[in-house]
Amino acid sequence: MHDAAPLMEMSDISIQFGLVPALKQVNLSIGRHEVLAIVGDNGAGKSTLVKIMSGLIHPASGTLFWKGKEVSIPTIRAAAQLGIAAVFQSQDFCDNLDVSANLFLGKELTNKHLRRNDEAMQKKSREILHSLSAAIRVGQPMSSLSLGQKQTVSIARTLLNNPDLILLDEPTSSLSVMQTAEILSYIKRMKSEGRSVVMICHDLPDVFAVADRIAVMRQGRLVSALNTAHTSYETIIALLSGMDPGEVMNEQEHRDALTNITARTQALKGTRTLPLNEPREQESV
Ligand SMILES: Nc1ncnc2c1ncn2[C@@H]1O[C@H](COP(=O)(O)OP(=O)(O)OP(=O)(O)O)[C@@H](O)[C@H]1O
Ligand SMILES: [Mg+2]
Repeated sequence: MHDAAPLMEMSDISIQFGLVPALKQVNLSIGRHEVLAIVGDNGAGKSTLVKIMSGLIHPASGTLFWKGKEVSIPTIRAAAQLGIAAVFQSQDFCDNLDVSANLFLGKELTNKHLRRNDEAMQKKSREILHSLSAAIRVGQPMSSLSLGQKQTVSIARTLLNNPDLILLDEPTSSLSVMQTAEILSYIKRMKSEGRSVVMICHDLPDVFAVADRIAVMRQGRLVSALNTAHTSYETIIALLSGMDPGEVMNEQEHRDALTNITARTQALKGTRTLPLNEPREQESV
């Protein structure tokens, strides 16, 4: 293990589904203790990239490095052994079971007689939810939870194996403003515990609120990965829209880009409005 190496590096990753090239020679690294947001239009290849990191699918070509060492990640189990855990876009729960049973679904703890150890699972579930400061009782039936609370359980589930890297595919989509704020606070908490988080997100205010870096994808390519503190909404929007960020947008182009992004986000998140034109302190284009 090389301590100075990034947590994960992807080099020249490509994959094609039939005739559709989903990823084209993507090079991206994930730093230690870093929150990296991946943004991009529908079909840009974001989920495919995260699925490759999680061992769910395999690239046709390219190389993966974990802590400086070349690795292959053939399965989700292999990813878990490295220290990688993921939450995908749709999560299945058993609504008739309680929170702790759902947290350990498929990974149940047993006692020395190989019986389910509910007490141990509840204790560990309580610890994990407490580490996130989540106000959910472990004995609550899953059916009684809100969408945001279910997402909390999904995130808590990733922490069972104490991973170094957590991959979240649109963790805040279809959540209310308050629920979104809660999920963002968990991401910050996981980072403060020394973990790295990759978050796919369509909502730029959420991205700017938590990400250390923002990777912009377009049509299967990684366009750019920028330090959040040194970039602006305008730059990200320009990159998303396929414009050269060095190009100065005129007022009309800027309005059109904002309208497009807002419409897309509203379509994805109900009717929530994006405060994209609010001034930000750190903007520096
Ligand atoms: N299993 C699959 N079979 C065929 N094509 C696929 C498959 N998975 C993804 N694709 C295609 O690969 C491209 C990238 O898809 P991907 O799901 O990675 O995009 P995305 O950026 O996550 O989009 P979204 O924002 O809609 O979730 C798209 O053209 C998609 O239709
Ligand atoms: Mg996706």
